[in-house]
Parts: sequence; structure tokens; C-alpha cells
Amino acid sequence: MTDALPTLITEDDLTARVAELADQIDEEYAGVEELVLVGVLKGSFIFLSDLTRRLTVPHRVEFIAVSSYGDRESEESGSVRLLMDVRHPLGGKHVLIVEDIVDSGHTLAYLVRLFQARHPVSLKTCSLLHKPDRTQTEVRLDYVGFTIPDVWVVGYGLDYAERHRTLPYVASLPEELR
Ligand code: PRP
Repeated sequence: MTDALPTLITEDDLTARVAELADQIDEEYAGVEELVLVGVLKGSFIFLSDLTRRLTVPHRVEFIAVSSYGDRESEESGSVRLLMDVRHPLGGKHVLIVEDIVDSGHTLAYLVRLFQARHPVSLKTCSLLHKPDRTQTEVRLDYVGFTIPDVWVVGYGLDYAERHRTLPYVASLPEELR
């Protein structure tokens, strides 16, 4: 059962850290007319929904869906495919990309390149989790919730083969369960 998975980050710690990130974002975007949060589907949807409800800066939410080519070989090549674009133009906007996790960093690097070409006023990145031991790109992380070791994590939006996404905490998934 999913509730037997070893906890890496508790629900309380997630709640507290999301509130801190929201405070930091509120402070840094104070006075901005509108911030556009772009959630990267699917993994970010729970983090984003908690973050957005803590923010007081005027903002709206967009979603984008990408997929990395699944096997190890292409993972190394960093190929990312756009499955669904945002609905409104990002030109002239303050844009914050919201991710659940930065692993190799290829997804975020791709999105930064994609969005930069659309001439936003500003473009920043926010990820709940970061695995620095796995990251192969130079992409800048402006807001990071937790730095974690190289373990497979699930819960709070993150899945393993679509399972465990809705666990309320972040758990590590032991090898025998993969
Ligand atoms: C995960 C995660 C990030 C990406 C990070 O998405 O949500 O978008 O991988 O990996 P990277 O830093 O190595 O590029 P995934 O492809 O598992 O899809 P999902 O969010 O729909 O589960």
C-alpha cells in the first residue's frame, strides 16, 4: 500500500516550505501588475495549486505539457517534446515556470529556451524539488523548495508509472517497488 512508503518530506514540511516560497515570491514581485505562473503538467499540479492559493501578488495560471523521450539513451540526449502549449501569449509578461522536480534539468532548460524566445518581461523558475547530483544543465533555479539526494521520489504530484501521485507527502520509492 502507498501509505507504507518511506517518507522523505512530510506534509507539514511541505506546507511550511510552500508558504515560505509564496512569501518570497510575493515579496520579489511586489507591485507587479500580473504574474503568470506556468505549471508543467502533470507533476506540478499539486504543488502549483498549493502555491497559487498562498500567493497574494496578482497572478494567473497557465499550463504546459511536455514529455521527455522515455528511454535512458534519449534521456541523455535531453530531447523534450511539446505536447500542449500555454493558452495565452507570454510576451510582455512576468513569467514564473513552476515544476515539481528538476532532475537532469533538460525539461526546464527546454522551457526556458522556448519562453525566452517569446520575449517575456521577466522569466524565472521555481521547482519544489531539485536533485543536483543528476542535473546536467546550467539552467538557473530561482526558487527551490527542497534539495534532495538521487532517490526515486513519488507523491505530492510525482508519480511512478502514474501511481502514488496523490500521496499527501513526498516518499522515496524503494527499488523493489519499481
Ligand atoms: C518529470 C517532472 C519534470 C521532469 C524533470 O516529468 O515533472 O517535468 O520530469 O526531469 P528532467 O529535469 O530530467 O527533465 P515527467 O516526464 O515524469 O512527466 P509528468 O510530470 O507528467 O509525470
